[in-house]
Amino acid sequence: MNKKICILNGSPRSNGNTKALIADFIKGAEAAGNETVCFDLQKMNIHGCLGCCGGGKDAASPCVQKDDMEKVYPVYKDADVIVLASPMYYWGISGQLKCAFDRLFAVAELTANYENPKKDCILLMAAEGDSESNFAPVRAFYEGLVSHLGWNNLGIIYAGGNMEAGDVLKKPEQLEKAGALGRSIV
Ligand SMILES: Cc1cc2nc3c(=O)[nH]c(=O)nc-3n(C[C@H](O)[C@H](O)[C@H](O)COP(=O)(O)O)c2cc1C
Repeated sequence: MNKKICILNGSPRSNGNTKALIADFIKGAEAAGNETVCFDLQKMNIHGCLGCCGGGKDAASPCVQKDDMEKVYPVYKDADVIVLASPMYYWGISGQLKCAFDRLFAVAELTANYENPKKDCILLMAAEGDSESNFAPVRAFYEGLVSHLGWNNLGIIYAGGNMEAGDVLKKPEQLEKAGALGRSIV
């Protein structure tokens, strides 16, 4: 059966390395018959979580803040696979992605036990550093997140050695890994 894939792109650079990884991932995923929706979070009006714990009252619009997360919620709820795509910023994910992800708490608030819907998930990340030790803090964050949410990790693409926008285009092996991960979703 085809899968619905929701991509949260936390890179502010529309011609950047994260976006190039996403493009090849989408090509692969759609070639395998899946449906993709990509949210370029930088272009959207998405505010940080207020921590009010007042959401979860309306399944169609679960957060008290009415901004562009209204576009993300229905796609997130329908999706089988969530892709977290981000440049590495200070050994973490970008603020754009963190803001959007925190706001998914409003969906968990729809349930008595604050449970997020179960999903498969993927991490796509571009970074300047190209070592496992450089990636370790993000790996720990991502694996902890996935474990706590009870999600299922389908794969991680860590594309290191990329600083300037478009550097990854000179590394076809990294793009091919993103494409192959997309094609593997069935
Ligand atoms: C604010 C900022 C913080 C960054 N922090 C890191 C870092 O901690 N480790 C690293 O390897 N690269 C870091 N980088 C480099 C980016 O991860 C790298 O340029 C990446 O390819 C950007 O992806 P993009 O082209 O999708 O924007 C940082 C870049 C910026 C602008």
